[in-house]
Amino acid sequence: MNFSKRTVTCGALRAADVGKTVILNGWVHRDRNHGALHFINLRDRYGITQVVVDDNASEELQKTAAQLKMEYCIAVTGLVRKRPDNMINKDMATGEVEVEAQKIEILSKCETLPFMIDEENSANEDLRLKYRFLDLRTGGMQKRIRLRHEFIKAIRDFLCDREFYEIETPTLIRSTPEGARDFLVPSRKYAGKFYALPQSPQLYKQLLMVSGFDKYFQIARCYRDEDARGDRQLEFTQLDLEMSFVQRDDVLGLMEDLFGYVFKRVMNYELPAHFRRIDYFDAMNTYGCDKPDLRFGCEIKDLAPVVEKSSFEAYRQILADKGFVKAVVAPATKGFDFTRKYLDSLSEAAKVYGAAFVPFVKVGENNTISGSAAKYFAGLEEELCTYMGAKNGDVILMVAHNSWKKCCASAGALRSKLGKDLGLIQPGFAFCWIVDFPLFEYNEDEGHWEAAHHMFSMPQARYIDTLEQNPGEVRGDLYDMVVNGYECASGSIRIHDVELQKRIFRICNFSDEEAEKKFGFLLNAFKFGPPPHGGIAPGIDRMVMIMSEQSSIKEAIAFPKNSFAVSPMDDCPNDVDAKQLEELHLAIKYPENK
Ligand code: AMO
Repeated sequence: MNFSKRTVTCGALRAADVGKTVILNGWVHRDRNHGALHFINLRDRYGITQVVVDDNASEELQKTAAQLKMEYCIAVTGLVRKRPDNMINKDMATGEVEVEAQKIEILSKCETLPFMIDEENSANEDLRLKYRFLDLRTGGMQKRIRLRHEFIKAIRDFLCDREFYEIETPTLIRSTPEGARDFLVPSRKYAGKFYALPQSPQLYKQLLMVSGFDKYFQIARCYRDEDARGDRQLEFTQLDLEMSFVQRDDVLGLMEDLFGYVFKRVMNYELPAHFRRIDYFDAMNTYGCDKPDLRFGCEIKDLAPVVEKSSFEAYRQILADKGFVKAVVAPATKGFDFTRKYLDSLSEAAKVYGAAFVPFVKVGENNTISGSAAKYFAGLEEELCTYMGAKNGDVILMVAHNSWKKCCASAGALRSKLGKDLGLIQPGFAFCWIVDFPLFEYNEDEGHWEAAHHMFSMPQARYIDTLEQNPGEVRGDLYDMVVNGYECASGSIRIHDVELQKRIFRICNFSDEEAEKKFGFLLNAFKFGPPPHGGIAPGIDRMVMIMSEQSSIKEAIAFPKNSFAVSPMDDCPNDVDAKQLEELHLAIKYPENK
């Protein structure tokens, strides 16, 4: 097709270009008719330029301009001229000039739009995803995809400068248990056999260390058949990274340097040289979770010392049964009333995590207290308020549970809700490390221990001789990077010793035969001089979501799936032909209710 090819983009023209004849290609963003004058805002990836069809334009030009509708793709040839002083738009990079159209070519037309192409799209999610190619034209999506590109580019530049190799690893691999459910790909050549899509390149990156590559990274696609939530997708991207001859602090230090560099370059945001390190148990006790949002305080306190002296029998009983009582202070906030309804909503938030109810105490002047739990603290008013650091107008909220984790999580739910509802969250990015996680978790349903992270992480040295005696006590050389309340990266120092790796498999209920069958290739590699190594994997989608202040990773991905694991645009997943199934030696057994 012959068309007038652009000589400049829609974001390029400035006052210095006045007098030039230019060609612009782009989309009709807005189209306004002011009597005889016709204004067209022409948009492309680079910006918007105002095009004017004057009242004295040729009849042919006027006719073409009259046909234009929103999102028509056009070419405009015209003369750059200065806008009249009262028409200068300081909010637009091209706002000092306009292009007086001499010729307009319609390159393609656009049907009635399902939604307006605006700065942000307020259409419902499925409509946005069905017309994702249009949704991606909105200002917000364009910015976020650019941010993602710049983020990945900065990561590549930084790591290549530090002598990392970028190496691709396969995406058709053997199915190995790694935590989530695998996506399987049936083999046509080998009836009944399957490839799996990688949940992460974990084992390959360890093998690359055995191969002597020393420093590896990859912008890696990962696939996990799990429920898609706000910060999860079935298919996502990690910066996967591994280094040889390192200890924990080398990996953490590299990440601090990397994110410091990237945030400065991409966001012009200064991160601290080092991120705070918080022991897993301290994080749980103080923030009620292992991914604390440190942009606000509201720290959780262990209320046992005060409850023990009180007449709060229900709570005293929980303590007597070796349970836990924790409390958090909702600070008096201007314009915010701690109504009964609001306190009930807090209670509901905590109940999801196990707390039976949320007794509360409202603090008045001179440490007077009222509220559902006040009577139990008669005579202890001052002690309670001082212990909790609560002042006039604050509310002390309490939770108790026999399980430490559930007690922490219930208090954590209160803290999170208060942070959001009371507007306590400060702007910016709060990075921290959560370290020294337990290596194992007990799987109550299946009645055995399993790896809290994955089975390749190194137990801390002091536990190695006695791992089997009390797996629950063992701490691993594990670390998570947390940003603004999201787990953004996980990693560990790895095991590189065959015997130790086998012991971990056994604790996780894999017999030697089973371990050999599933992980024989790794165990085999470890027989050939593996170096000590460790690594980490930040989630790219989650980081871009946070950097662009969004709460769903779909906002950071060009073509995501919806929360039902479906892509409404291309209707995926879809049925396949009987012939395809036959070639793959498959027959579908539908669930009864289909
Ligand atoms: P992990 O499973 O913790 O560790 O994942 C690392 C990071 O990847 C991101 N992430 C996800 N992002 C979007 N959707 C998902 N479903 C999803 N799952 C994980 C998170 C997370 O912190 N192999 C190890 C890493 C290692 O040990 O080096 C691993 O994959 O940001």
